[in-house]
Amino acid sequence: MVNFGGKTILLLLISIHIGSARSDEYDECPEIEGPTVWIDNAPDCQANSSYCHHFGLDYVCSTNITDEGNSCLGGTQVKCAHSQAPPLATPLPINTLKLITYNVWELNYLVAQIGQRERTCRIPAKIFKMNPDVDVVVLEEVFMGGCIVNVNNSLTMRDILGEFGFVHSTRTVGDSLALLPGARVAEKRNSTAENGGVFIASRWPIVQEKQKVFDNYDPTTSDALSAKGVMYARVRKTVEDASKDFHIFGTHMQSTEKTESPGIRVLQAGEIFDFMQGMSIPISEPVIYTGDLNGDLINKEENARAIIDALNANMPSLIGPIKVTYDHQNNDNLDPTDKDAEYLDYILTSNGHEQPVGASTQVFRPRSDQPVEVCRDFRLFKFFMYPHSPDCRETKTVSDLSDHFPVVGIFQYPTDKAEMTTQAPGVHTTSSGSSPVTGAVFAVVTSLTVLINSHIFKKLIFI
Ligand SMILES: *[C@@H]1O[C@H](CO)[C@@H](O)[C@H](O)[C@H]1NC(C)=O
Ligand SMILES: *[C@@H]1O[C@H](CO)[C@@H](O)[C@H](O)[C@H]1NC(C)=O
Ligand SMILES: *[C@@H]1O[C@H](CO)[C@@H](O)[C@H](O)[C@H]1NC(C)=O
Ligand SMILES: *[C@@H]1O[C@H](CO)[C@@H](O)[C@H](O)[C@H]1NC(C)=O
Repeated sequence: MVNFGGKTILLLLISIHIGSARSDEYDECPEIEGPTVWIDNAPDCQANSSYCHHFGLDYVCSTNITDEGNSCLGGTQVKCAHSQAPPLATPLPINTLKLITYNVWELNYLVAQIGQRERTCRIPAKIFKMNPDVDVVVLEEVFMGGCIVNVNNSLTMRDILGEFGFVHSTRTVGDSLALLPGARVAEKRNSTAENGGVFIASRWPIVQEKQKVFDNYDPTTSDALSAKGVMYARVRKTVEDASKDFHIFGTHMQSTEKTESPGIRVLQAGEIFDFMQGMSIPISEPVIYTGDLNGDLINKEENARAIIDALNANMPSLIGPIKVTYDHQNNDNLDPTDKDAEYLDYILTSNGHEQPVGASTQVFRPRSDQPVEVCRDFRLFKFFMYPHSPDCRETKTVSDLSDHFPVVGIFQYPTDKAEMTTQAPGVHTTSSGSSPVTGAVFAVVTSLTVLINSHIFKKLIFI
């Protein structure tokens, strides 16, 4: 029996209404609330309920495919849904921000079969279960969109994040040049097959979004094929009628270990710093830099420090038992090698902006409840492959949900300053001392920004 909470009731009502005893091999396919996805397992075209469970999804129903022109005509497809998500947790106080950064290793299928779907479909539920009161999630290497992405039939990571109340998200860095003059997306996308993989999701409105694709990268590496850069989100947290803006910069830096790579990462950090400077963020507001900086704090500490310095940032204390984010020996997505574990994923605070009175970061390890078998094949294939597919040469059973571990940070800012930024909804003032004229200008600029960032406006532009 399906177990969706509210969805179950709807299913039951529909069953009762049509008098179906569910003894048929094929169930009626009810409309259910929330996003769903059809799976047909082409070219075999004989999907069954186990195909939903393979991705950690709930089985809804099956049906024979009867539409002409469908490559699975005559086969069976199943409808899958994400399990019902719990409601959002009570938020932490207004002056506190809790943020997760996670490189989810969702490389394009052209590069590899590495359990992209099996892992990314499961990630949101697991990270929210481990951190129910998180405010913002920054993801890296979401190159395809996460979970199951097809042209007209998808259940993306953004869809699933939305189910958990994280209904606000930025675009993916490098995915489009629209509305983003000067972001240098156009030039890079002329030569790259891929976006930059980074987006920011939030339970609070993102009142401003901006991005920049890096000028600096090593053209002889795979980074030349991806429009890597930095995504900025101004997140407005509102608790009990008080609002506070948090300025978040998410990035994924040069990822190789050639001679030039460490220096390129420092140049990229400089680009992020200049990009931040160009935004005239009030120094009384918090700025956080986060992502996979690829500078290894353990084995290449000098590079890590140079990156942090170029950002004029500070790394808060790292608490908890896990001190690495890329663990060759213990992460079951990686093959044990003689390489030492690395620390690559950071959450940093800007030295030039509001300083937290309390800040800490902690590595955690989301794992699937049950080990999952995935296809592991590093040949060029365009599409997802099931582990039982005859074309899949090698499989691997994994529980860790990425090759990296995520990091969660908690940042507590002075209470009095949070109260100072209290404001009427929709109107932003940068400080309590601004003149009425400045206030009005900011109100207009903010409204324009909200309009430009609204889904409706984007849809109009992208039709
Ligand atoms: C569902 O499909 C899988 C993979 O083809 C197969 O191993 C399994 O036996 C099928 N289950 C049912 C109930 O038919
Ligand atoms: C679906 O197709 C199978 C054969 O592939 C057939 O046995 C079954 O009766 C069909 N079911 C429906 C509801 O059409
Ligand atoms: C996707 O949907 C659009 C609009 O309904 C349609 O024109 C297009 O052919 C569909 N593409 C595929 C691959 O089914
Ligand atoms: C992208 O490539 C096209 C065609 O080669 C060229 O006309 C255009 O100027 C390029 N755009 C940028 C921003 O480099």
